[in-house]
Amino acid sequence: MAEQSQPAAADRRTVLRTTALGVAVAGVGVTAAACSSSNSTAQGSTAQTAAGGSSSTVASSKVPVDGGYIDTTNNVVVTQPSAGEYKAFTAICTHQGCTVSSVQNNVIQCPCHGSQFSAKDGSVITGPATSPLASKTVTVAGSTITYGA
Ligand code: FES
Repeated sequence: MAEQSQPAAADRRTVLRTTALGVAVAGVGVTAAACSSSNSTAQGSTAQTAAGGSSSTVASSKVPVDGGYIDTTNNVVVTQPSAGEYKAFTAICTHQGCTVSSVQNNVIQCPCHGSQFSAKDGSVITGPATSPLASKTVTVAGSTITYGA
């Protein structure tokens, strides 16, 4: 009996300890993954661009004036700073590699540490980032916007 209850108690402690560690590690993992996965995606995107200069398209209706469209697959943010004027930039923050999360009032926002970039030219509005978002090519044909390297 006593032998059965001791292992059970040990198991419970082990489970609790493991759970507590698991939560702590998972919490750290989420933060790290947000930045590191974006980093590796950015590297993949750069390699892809260098290899073939790939491009993608989006309907202009998905890119609001003073706002933007974030292509998280290709890591590009397409903006429309004024009616009919389209711009595209890398969606990878120059601070630590997170993917930008929104574009409002011509401000591209990074969710990780609060950097803000201009939707007009990619320049830094608010740090900690110190370098602008690199521009991408943009062409408009009718209601289709093509963007890429
Ligand atoms: S990664 Fe964008 S502000 Fe830090």
